[in-house]
Amino acid sequence: VPNAIYELPDYKERVFVVGANGSGKSYFVARVIACLPRWFAIDLKGDFGEDCGLDKSATIITKPSDFRLRLFPRQIKRIIYRPAPTDYSSVDAVVGRLFNLARALKKRYGKGHPYRFYLYCDEGLLQSRGRRTVHLAGSAISGRSLEMGFILSSQRLSWIPVEIRTEAWRVVVFYLSSVEEEREVIKLSKNRLTLQQLEELGADYSFYELKRTQGGLITVTHFPKLTQGVHQSQ
Ligand SMILES: Nc1ncnc2c1ncn2[C@@H]1O[C@H](COP(=O)(O)OP(=O)(O)OP(=O)(O)O)[C@@H](O)[C@H]1O
Ligand SMILES: [Mg+2]
Repeated sequence: VPNAIYELPDYKERVFVVGANGSGKSYFVARVIACLPRWFAIDLKGDFGEDCGLDKSATIITKPSDFRLRLFPRQIKRIIYRPAPTDYSSVDAVVGRLFNLARALKKRYGKGHPYRFYLYCDEGLLQSRGRRTVHLAGSAISGRSLEMGFILSSQRLSWIPVEIRTEAWRVVVFYLSSVEEEREVIKLSKNRLTLQQLEELGADYSFYELKRTQGGLITVTHFPKLTQGVHQSQ
């Protein structure tokens, strides 16, 4: 399949992207959100979107005080927030402001309004390990009814707080760093994925997607590496 079609996530879907260091998570998400109109990306590693040219289409901010609620997401449609390590502790508060914003927009403009946006957090691990994730969890759980899109990437599924992890609707799986991680993903797939399938994933940027459907059924799709311009909603 030279041109696999990856279906863009809906606002209600909660998307998780997992894979070892360098497996292709950030690149993948950059390609996906390049096709989405409004988003706020939290880039804890400071390199998100660089090799995809995404930073040219987004407003980059480094301090929470630069975060102008009045302009996002109506006039300013795409923001990449690159906090300094000293500001990591305030990242969850920023997520809280975004959540409140999504709530206010829903209240004002109603269901399916044009200013809906996605929240993307690159490297959930820095957030979750011993850090405050109350608002991140709230956005994963309650953000669904507010139609606030939610995408989270992490090197390890086990580093995503459990209350967030159970919200997984779509899980994109690149090659993993350990057998323990593979077992976690298999559990989440309700044994639809096998250890052999995961072991066969190489460093070629191919991936699996687990998708939860109505009734809790889980479908598994294998995708070859994505190339530029293959993301189209169907
Ligand atoms: N589909 C692809 N085609 C070509 N190059 C890719 C593809 N996916 C990733 N790469 C390249 O591989 C490198 C690692 O990818 P990426 O930064 O997305 O990994 P990552 O999973 O986010 O790693 P980390 O956990 O360290 O953040 C990047 O230089 C990126 O340009
Ligand atoms: Mg990355």
